[in-house]
Order: sequence, then structure tokens, then C-alpha cells
Amino acid sequence: MVVCGGCWKSTGVDSRKRLSAVVTKYSLRYVCEILLVKLDNLFGGETSTMQHPFQGWPPPLETRVSRLFGIRYPIIQGGMVWTAGWKLAVAVSRAGGLGLIGAGSMQPDLLREHIRQARGATDAPIGVNVPLTRGDAEELIQTTVNEGIKIVFTSSGHPGRFTGQLKKAGCIVAHLIAAVKHARKAAEAGCDLLVAEGFEAGGHNGLDEITTLTLVPQVADAVPLPLLAAGGIADGRGMAAALALGAAGVQIGTRFAATLESSAHERYKKLLVDAGDGDTVLTLKRIAPVRMVKTPFALRAEKAERAGAEREELLALLGQKRERMGIFEGNLEEGMFEAGQSSGLVRDILPAAEVVRNMMEEYYEAKRTLP
Ligand SMILES: Cc1cc2nc3c(=O)[nH]c(=O)nc-3n(C[C@H](O)[C@H](O)[C@H](O)COP(=O)(O)O)c2cc1C
Repeated sequence: MVVCGGCWKSTGVDSRKRLSAVVTKYSLRYVCEILLVKLDNLFGGETSTMQHPFQGWPPPLETRVSRLFGIRYPIIQGGMVWTAGWKLAVAVSRAGGLGLIGAGSMQPDLLREHIRQARGATDAPIGVNVPLTRGDAEELIQTTVNEGIKIVFTSSGHPGRFTGQLKKAGCIVAHLIAAVKHARKAAEAGCDLLVAEGFEAGGHNGLDEITTLTLVPQVADAVPLPLLAAGGIADGRGMAAALALGAAGVQIGTRFAATLESSAHERYKKLLVDAGDGDTVLTLKRIAPVRMVKTPFALRAEKAERAGAEREELLALLGQKRERMGIFEGNLEEGMFEAGQSSGLVRDILPAAEVVRNMMEEYYEAKRTLP
């Protein structure tokens, strides 16, 4: 996992460039929204049109997940390296979903800063995602607890490692799984809910390559915990499908990565907007499978893997800091741009609140129009 210190603070520096790019691309309505988001960031969260009381918004959707977290809509923005800082998490939580700060690319000090910024900007629930394969996972967990966070999503490691400690601290603990056997293990470890993530998802993926469509109902049948579906969901149609499969909510990554508040580089966001249905690849399987956009690095990795490259060779090819180079710095040649198959459904860069709102409108419409 690539780690960086305080560099995230630079995410606001090129905001003028971002703004002008968007101004030329989108309608006046979105430009107004963007200006309000920017003002909101400047003045600490007082001006957003996306704040409560949700006049004209779709009605709340009560499920086991929305009840558990005390949120209006069961839409969780997944933790994402180099993408999900406090601004994105706050925007999603304010819009009635649940935003997660992605600790996967933060040192503990930086995570502390992001949590404090988030807490200063909203009273809505905020969670933190900690990938347990991080060498300093213990410190990240401790920082999260010390800062008073009560919702923790763990991923990519043994679910029992910190669950007892987190529960003792009064946290709700979710764990991400990609197979039924891992769902059972997480339930035995005492987790409160599960995220079942299918093979379509962006970022690190399960070894068994099980699709969301088949994974979610099997996990729902096997384990009685509240369940979130993840992987391949980018709009309200996908959400309706996930709920029909037995999930009580959705965790979404790629669609939220292409929002104004995402810390990712503009070139990464543009890749998502331009991507079609076949523009991602699951590669580096002999290290740990990752789904990413087919940029030159991804194609090199895929070619090496197909040619039978062993783990060591792939590790050498991967080198250091590829995720940062791609997602955060926008290096199209050398970077790695993690993204899901749902990038084919991403057609614009919107404020995160607009994504939540659209998704709920589409969800109710999908439900209404089913034969
Ligand atoms: C750029 C990117 C970075 C991600 N980083 C993490 C991470 O650090 N920890 C984690 O648990 N999941 C991570 N994910 C997975 C998301 O949290 C989420 O489960 C997944 O994106 C859902 O599938 P979707 O991309 O089809 O929406 C990442 C996904 C993306 C696209």
C-alpha cells in the first residue's frame, strides 16, 4: 500500500484550474453548484445548498443499514486511496449518505487531521476505512478511536484483528468481503455488518473473481447481518438491483471518485468519464488482484502476467507509489488508476451530493417502473 504524509493538503491548490475546466464543460446549474461547494469549503460548511432539510429531495429510505447508522439514505461512499479525504466524506454525509475517510493512503497524523476537519464541518455521521494490510494498521485504528469516530470499515485483512477493540470503544464495525467463507469469518469475529464486494469493483479485488450479482444473494443467504453490496453500482438502477438481491444498502467507489470533492487528479476523473464498458482490467493477480483503467502501466502489467511473469517480476514492475502517481498525480504513462467496471456509467463530474440525490431519484423510479 502506498503511503504519503502531508501531501493531501495540496489537494485544494489547483482548485482554480479544476473550476475553469468544469466551467467550460458543464451547464450553468452545475457551475453554480460548484461555486457553492467551493464557498462551502472556504467558510467551513455553512453555505452548501446540499444541507438539510432536503426540500425537494427524494424521501428517506429506511433499511437495516440506514437505521444502524442513523442516515437518510443507505448509500455509503467507500474508503478510497488518494480520493476519499474529509471533503468527499463530508459532502456525502451531508447529503444523507455515509462518507468514509479512506485511511489507506494516509499516515496516522494526516488521518487525524482529516477526521478533525470532517468533524468541524458536519455533525452528520462520518466513518473511516482502514485496510488491515497496512503495516501501521494498529496506529490508524488507534487514531480513529482516539478521535472519537464511531463507524469503522475494515478491509483486506483478518476481520478479527481489531473488532474486539473497536467494539469496546463503542464503534460499529463493518468488514469488506469478497466470498461467502470470508463473510462467515467476519460474522464470527463479531462484525456488525458486511460489505460484499464483487469482481466488478475498482481497486483491490477478491481472489475468486465472484460477481456482485452472484455474491450478494449468497452472502445474504449465508449470514444474517445487515449487508451492503459493492462493485458495479453507479446509479439508482444498480442500487435497486442490489436491494432486490438482499442488500440493505450500497457501497460505492468509482462514481464518487468522479466528483468535485474527490481528491483525485482531474486527469483521473477524466479517464473515468471517458471510459467505456471494456476499459478496465483486473490484473496483478499474482500479487493481489487490482481493477484499474487500461492505461499504459495497466497494459504492461497485463502483458507481463499473460506472458507468465512470476510474483517477483510483477513486484518489480509495480515498483513504488503507482497509485499515488496515477490517482493523485495524474501521470497517465506510469501511474495506476484504480477504477471499477462502473466507470462505463460515469458520464460527468458532479458534486457528490448531486450523485446521492440522482441515485435516490433513479432508485425510486427503477422500483416504480419494474414490470
Ligand atoms: C480509486 C479507488 C481506491 C480504492 N481504495 C480502497 C481502499 O483504500 N480501501 C477499501 O476498502 N476499498 C478501496 N476501494 C474500493 C471501494 O471502497 C469500493 O468498495 C469499490 O470501489 C466499489 O466498487 P465500484 O468501484 O464499482 O463502486 C477503492 C476503489 C477505488 C475506485
